Amino acid sequence: MTDQLLTKTNIDELLNYPIELSDNRILIVDDSPYLLAAMLRKYGYDVETVTDSQDAVRSVVDLNPDLILLDIMMPGMDGYEVCGHLKASAQTREIPVIFISARNEAIDKIKAFQVGGSDYISKQFQFAEVLVRVENQLNQRRLQKQLQASEAKAREKSNLLARALQQVQQTQSQLVQQAKLSSLGQLVAGVAHEINNPINFVYGNLTYLAEYTDNLLNLIQLYNEALPVPTPEIETAVEEIDLDFIQSDLPRLVESMRVGTERIQQIVRSLRNYSHLDKAEVKAVNLQEGIDNTLTILQHRLKAKGDLAAVEIVKSYGELPEVECHAGQVNQVFTNILSNAVDALEERRRLSQTSQLHAVPTISIETGVAEGDRVYISISDNGSGMSESVRQRIFDPFFTTKDIGVGTGLGMSISYQIIVERHGGEIRCHSVPGKGTTFTIEIPIKALYHGMPSPPEMALQPAC
Ligand SMILES: Nc1ncnc2c1ncn2[C@@H]1O[C@H](COP(=O)(O)OP(=O)(O)O)[C@@H](O)[C@H]1O
Ligand SMILES: [Mg+2]
Repeated sequence: MTDQLLTKTNIDELLNYPIELSDNRILIVDDSPYLLAAMLRKYGYDVETVTDSQDAVRSVVDLNPDLILLDIMMPGMDGYEVCGHLKASAQTREIPVIFISARNEAIDKIKAFQVGGSDYISKQFQFAEVLVRVENQLNQRRLQKQLQASEAKAREKSNLLARALQQVQQTQSQLVQQAKLSSLGQLVAGVAHEINNPINFVYGNLTYLAEYTDNLLNLIQLYNEALPVPTPEIETAVEEIDLDFIQSDLPRLVESMRVGTERIQQIVRSLRNYSHLDKAEVKAVNLQEGIDNTLTILQHRLKAKGDLAAVEIVKSYGELPEVECHAGQVNQVFTNILSNAVDALEERRRLSQTSQLHAVPTISIETGVAEGDRVYISISDNGSGMSESVRQRIFDPFFTTKDIGVGTGLGMSISYQIIVERHGGEIRCHSVPGKGTTFTIEIPIKALYHGMPSPPEMALQPAC
């Protein structure tokens, strides 16, 4: 390499202004790099050298220089080839390369730029020229790095904003919930209470009604035996009221009133149990009872409707210990998951042309004890299932695939909050489009957060 050695003062004079030295690292790839390296070092740069072009790419990765000075004519791999490798890798692509060559043909320079070089210096250089070209590339590299850093900052800011937005949405969904709950929970509990009293006295009197009915029918029997030939008026009346029918139907009628009343009492019990308005704090409860109560409440959605078959419920309950939790909230989760399952069964039916050939719409519920002192409840349906992209978003507040007015997109995000954030549990979803979905909940048997805030309104809400 030929050059005229210059001092810093000479160069500053030559350029008419002092050069601000940067502490950037320069890598020289050249089979004879020493003179140039010495000059650059003398001028204060951190300079590394590689003489074997085969080692060049690895050294660039290891040293991560800010600039590469690359000789074209080298034994083994030539400079163009080295540059090609560097530009092909994402790790080294952005580092600027200045070619250095003894050749000064236009064609060489063109090729250098074609393979991704940033500049070209002929070996017949003035050192001052090298310095200016080096600083020029280093400056560009610095600007590029600054730009990348500010881009990263902007990305970080936008991530922060996205997180803040999600929090706002969650808070909003909680507020919407609480507003709904306070009115609905109290309404349901109030209605259940109001129905409870009259139904109890209907039920209480039914025993007497059955007894009096029996007595009266016996008495008629006695009259009948004592007066085998009734007066014409009695005979007409007996025929008009169809006494035989009344005698056989009245006991059945009383019995069906008893069954109906018991059913209403059961529903009222389920409603009160389900809402747990009186026990909003953490309590040890039987979760299977909670599931059964929830199924009672959702009964109207499980029955056959028009040409829709009834939903079959398959239970395989394990031996569950009592679980310390907010029973009302956990029942809310059961409601949300079960009503989504019914929606998915209806959706599959709607999408399918050959509905007759369909498997019976089924919801399977399995419970048991899981590892780590937890219980699990898994609820599966053979409904429409969901795609992977939907599955990834189901816990986002307000995410719904249902029509406006049908879905609120809150059920799953609230369920997530209740299970994961309030009970320290887990909620997982596995789904195969067209085949069905399984939700698995795990809840610690012993409550993790006894003192967690629990507005009483959290006790009951409509399914979402
Ligand atoms: N069992 C299920 N089968 C298929 N998709 C489901 C199921 N459960 C939830 N999803 C999907 O998750 C979305 C969000 O559910 P959710 O938060 O309860 O809101 P919503 O029911 O109001 O749409 C639903 O719109 C649906 O796309
Ligand atoms: Mg829902």
